[in-house]
Amino acid sequence: MEEIKIIKTGSPKAKPDEGALGFGAYYTDHMFIMDYTEGRGWHSPRIEPYRALTLDPAALVFHYAQECFEGMKAYRTADGRVLLFRPEKNAERMQRTHRRLCIPEIPAEDFVAAVKALVSVDKDWVPHEPDTSLYLRPFTIATEAVLGVKPSATYQFIIIASPSGAYYAEGMNPVKIYVENEYVRATPGGTGYIKCGGNYAASLIGQMKAHELGYSQVLWLDGVERRYVEEVGSMNCFFKIGGVVRTAPCTGTVLPGITRMSCIELLQKWGYTVDCENRLPLADVLAAGRDGTLEEVFGTGTAAVISPVGELRYENEVLTVNGFQTGPLTQRLYDTITGIQWGRLPDELGWTVEVK
Ligand code: COI
Repeated sequence: MEEIKIIKTGSPKAKPDEGALGFGAYYTDHMFIMDYTEGRGWHSPRIEPYRALTLDPAALVFHYAQECFEGMKAYRTADGRVLLFRPEKNAERMQRTHRRLCIPEIPAEDFVAAVKALVSVDKDWVPHEPDTSLYLRPFTIATEAVLGVKPSATYQFIIIASPSGAYYAEGMNPVKIYVENEYVRATPGGTGYIKCGGNYAASLIGQMKAHELGYSQVLWLDGVERRYVEEVGSMNCFFKIGGVVRTAPCTGTVLPGITRMSCIELLQKWGYTVDCENRLPLADVLAAGRDGTLEEVFGTGTAAVISPVGELRYENEVLTVNGFQTGPLTQRLYDTITGIQWGRLPDELGWTVEVK
């Protein structure tokens, strides 16, 4: 990648109250932008003052949704360092996403360098309060102005940053989840394993239905038989049944979460049996809920962190999980992952990268 050009803002914004950040409500002073032009490749990486984009209304992103994104965070440690968590994994996932959407790939080292450069320029925006972080949103959009259905000849790769608190209004308290049996999120051969906006647009109707019924999220079932549990959309989902920890396999319809992968690695290190290769029938979850062997359910995600699930509803059956309390394994994973991310625990696995 060429050298990143930095143009700093002449009018820095006032920082928000760190005690009331919410999620994705405030944006920092700067953004990273890089262009792609057919025949020239990715070029002109730069950091500019945060601003609105100007795009031709015919830009392909608006019509055929050729766009995608990533989610990651920068964390401030008690001794004032700023850490990223496994950023190369986001870079690799973005490459897989680009390939599926016919968008030219960005070299992983350029992706990580761009993230580090923006965080370094906006370092003062990494919040200090417990459980807050600087949420980073890299994304790519197709910018060519043409209405034919084809891969764009031009793109922009942009990173914006948002000082944020908990993703769910519930914070670290258990969430209630509705098992969706009408709409589906992903089917084999589709885009379930990548982070494209279309997956999220298609999930909104299920989310609205869940909200109307008093549930905060949707647990999606497989799109063919509606028999196996897949993911929640904003997080992967784990079930501890009779001592074994199970989560849906990443075989094309489930997003390969970086927090999911990190939890599997920790659980295996701690000696748990983890089954992340076999599909988990919803019927097994319901049966375990009835016979008392469903010990814990939790979601994992960059935004959601580790989120206990206190209630599951499928059709008219309601299961309360672990007395609507955070389970001990959920708590241990939360303490360990967040301990590493915020530098409270030694990073024995080499997962963090410091931003200078
Ligand atoms: C993330 O966890 O970073 C995501 O991209 C999920 C999104 C629904 C907030």
